[in-house]
Parts: sequence; C-alpha cells; structure tokens
Amino acid sequence: MDPNASGLAQRLAEADQSHLLQFWSELSPAEQAELTRELQGMDFKEINGFFKNAMETSSSSKQEKMDTRMEPVPREVLGSVTRDRECLKDWELAGLQCISQSKVAVLLLAGGQGTRLGVSYPKGMYDVGLPSHKTLFQIQAERILKLQQLAEQKHKTKCCVPWYIMTSGRTMESTKDFFSRHNYFGLEKNNVVFFQQGMLPAMDYNGKIILESKGKLSMAPDGNGGLYRALGNQGIIDDMERRGVEFIHVYCVDNILVKVADPAFVGFCVQKGADCGAKVVEKTNPTEAVGVVCKVDGRYQVVEYSEITLATAEKRSADGRLMFNAGNVANHFFSFSFLRDIVQKHEPQLQHHVAQKKIPHVDAKGQLIKPDKPNGIKMEKFVFDIFQFAKTFVVYEVLREDEFSPLKNADSQDGKDTPTTARHALMSLHHRWVLNAGGHFIDENGRRVPAIPSLKDGTDLPIKCEISPVVSYGGEGLEELVKGREFHPTLMIDENGVHELVKNGV
Ligand code: UTP
Repeated sequence: MDPNASGLAQRLAEADQSHLLQFWSELSPAEQAELTRELQGMDFKEINGFFKNAMETSSSSKQEKMDTRMEPVPREVLGSVTRDRECLKDWELAGLQCISQSKVAVLLLAGGQGTRLGVSYPKGMYDVGLPSHKTLFQIQAERILKLQQLAEQKHKTKCCVPWYIMTSGRTMESTKDFFSRHNYFGLEKNNVVFFQQGMLPAMDYNGKIILESKGKLSMAPDGNGGLYRALGNQGIIDDMERRGVEFIHVYCVDNILVKVADPAFVGFCVQKGADCGAKVVEKTNPTEAVGVVCKVDGRYQVVEYSEITLATAEKRSADGRLMFNAGNVANHFFSFSFLRDIVQKHEPQLQHHVAQKKIPHVDAKGQLIKPDKPNGIKMEKFVFDIFQFAKTFVVYEVLREDEFSPLKNADSQDGKDTPTTARHALMSLHHRWVLNAGGHFIDENGRRVPAIPSLKDGTDLPIKCEISPVVSYGGEGLEELVKGREFHPTLMIDENGVHELVKNGV
C-alpha cells in the first residue's frame, strides 16, 4: 500500500525518519510489503526517545570517572567457595531442597548474535570439538536433567527445573527447531519455554535509522537486558508465577562451564534472604577488561574497566588481592518477587547503553558501504542494570577454572575465549574430577601422568577426558567408577559406562 495513503509517510516525517522510504520506488511489491510491515510495527517516538537518552547518558558518563564514588563489596555480603569452605555443604543442601520443591527455574540468555564467533546459527548449537561432540545447549540440558535427578534422589519427590530460553528474532526459529530435532535432550518439552527479546534499529550519530539495504532496516537485539521487557510482554513472568517459581538463575549461553541452577549458589542466596545475587570470579590482573561488581554511591552495580582509572584498578586490599576484584560473569540469582517488580515497575527506568559499531549500510545512491570505522550506534540494555534496585544484594565468588570459560571468538593462534580454550577448560576440569575421585591417567609408555602436567615438552594440552553431565553434575558420584583405576586418555564417562578411546583418539 502506498505509504502516503496509509499514513506511514506522515508518521515517518513526524519522526524525522523519512529517508527510510528513499528507495521505495525501486523496491519490488514484495519488498515494499515487507518494509511496510517492519515500519508499521515500530514506535518511532519511543525509539527516538531511547536514542536521545542513551546519547545523553553516554556523553555525561564519559566525562567523569567513577573512582571516587566506588566502594568494594563488603565481606558480609560475600560468599566464597574458597574462603567459606565450611558452609558449602549447607548451601548446597539448601539449594537442592529448593530445587526438589520445584521452586527454582533457570533462564538462559541466548539472544545474542555471536558476531565475533562468526557462525550463522545460534551459539548454543556450537560444537567446540569435545570427544562427544555435544553442543553447548546439550551440555546445559543434561546438567538440568542431572540436577533434577539429584534433587529427586535426595528428597524422594518428583521435581522440575523449568528452563526459560531467551532468543531473538534472528535465533528463535533455529533454536526451537534444534531442540525439537533433539527431543529436548531428554527434558520435558513443556518445561522448556522459549521467548523472544526485542530488536532495535541501529542509528547514525544524528539519530537517523540506518538502512542495511534499500528495503531493509539494520536491526539488532536490544541487549541481554532486553530480558526484562520480554519477560513482561511475552507472558513469562505469569508463567513463572503459575508454576510457583520462587528463585531464578540467569546465565549466558556461551559459558561451557556454567553450573546451571548451581545449588550452592542458590542455597547461599536463599539463606542470605537475597533478592538479587551475582556470581563473580576473582579479577587478578588490574588491566583485565572485565566489569567489576561494586557499590557506587551506596548502590550495587557493575563498573566497566573503561570507567575507572588505572590507579583504582591497581588498588589492593590488606590481603594483597585487588580491591575491586569481583569480576562479573553475567551469572545471576533473582527472587521471583524482585524480578516481577523489575518487570512491572522499574524496566522503563533502565537506560540503553551506547555501543559504537561499524554498521554496513546503503548510501544515498543505494551502494552498499562496509565502513572501516564506527559510523553509528546500537542501543543495548544489560542484564546487570537492575542491581541498583536490589534491597538485599549478595555476591558469590567462585573459581574461574571451575566455572567460567566463555566462547566468544573463533579459533586463532593464542586466541582468548575460543572453541579451543572452552574445550580445554572443560576437559581440564573433568581431569581434576577424576583425580579427586582417586583415578589416575597413564601415558602411552604406561607411566602415570603427573597430576600437575609438566610443560617441558612445550605443550600444555589437557588430558583428554570428558564426563557426561548425566553421570556427574559437579564431580560427585565418580569414585565408584574411577577410584584406584588407571586410564589412557581419551577417557569418556557417560550413561553407557567408562570408555577409553585410545586408538582413534579424538
Ligand atoms: P555477548 O555480549 O558476548 O554477545 O553476550 P554475543 O552475541 O554472544 O557475541 P558478539 O558480541 O555478537 O560477538 C553475552 C550473552 O548475552 C546474550 C548472548 O546470547 C550471550 O549469552 N545476549 C546478548 C542476549 O541474550 N541478547 C542480546 O541482545 C545480547
């Protein structure tokens, strides 16, 4: 339909976005219909408002560093797997009890585009090359299965951990299809709930929406903090309420070591009466570009590395650790009532952050341009933007080598956060589980491999060892399988037993 007759041209003119129709007459009827559909679904007034606020916040926050307003996390709100070892069992039991009562849900943030990894399908479908070739989705699904089983065995009652999976317009169909083809990896279909986050257009620095081609806007998901709006408008908060969910564990798809619904973390947060909790890993290097959880003007938030001076990043406490060392890993606990309040009351107060990007676009002649420096912005909310609203905020510190190895980039020599580093992190953890359970590894000459591998041969490759989550969630239950035994790598332990894949080593 003609945009003048439908009123669309008028709406665009009022929003100062008329350029979006500049190639109208060159589009085919199908392209015109598609563009009309896309534009009609958009609230330009709202988008222009987002742009204005995001740009204002971004320029004012650039002017002043946070240093003088920051305080580290006080010890009384901190739980630590190394410093509070004597409490761990208690927390774990408390968490497992909540799980057995079906009060705990997990929520996966999987709406990202995975641009750095550079695959065309959702990141959760990625196979990092483990001996089993399991994908990230499968590993996470099996951890949920195992946890349900552990809770059921302990409390002799059936339970379920609903899994809410946030996708975006770009990943929804392929994600759903993948789960359905794999029969939900053994989970009940009804307990795996997909929902979709919003998308926002990329804008140039003058607030004009960018055209990616003559008839198509450049759209991107609205950040992992798009979660809160989506929870409301997709009916997910209501679904949680119907199911009696009281606690929610939120995490990112790309962490291969993630302890989904970690009972110790959940138990710690519940015992502390927390409405909001953040799992962190210790930041040990002052210049590591990781956000840190701390207090700013008395409220909790994540402060990015770029927002502080080096002097502050280097400050140390009396114990020698960095003062601001609570490295954020986007792994959170929320009580249901807190999450509901965020969705129903606070979400509109959250500002978008500005990410400057190189955004491919068409110029006035309709030529496709791939810029070599940033030419516009994407607007994103972050999942941790809501810490400021917490009344009882807690922090739970875990070991990086046990719990955090994100997949961000494609493989490259010495690359960080790649399929290789993720695969190695998982195998090295499982190697340690076997050693802790009393098993040993022997090399091709029949000699025991030392527990701490020597680097003298110039390699620091981990022992090839993989333990299926359906056998062990966190290293438990392995003694009867490995104690006093010697194994040749590759060792695989799964539902079919213990196998050594010596000849065709993977
Ligand atoms: P990242 O910020 O690392 O983004 O997301 P990404 O999409 O995985 O990768 P790049 O930056 O495009 O290379 C951290 C987590 O937040 C989720 C991602 O799926 C990942 O689990 N996320 C990110 C969303 O759910 N929605 C978004 O809009 C952005």
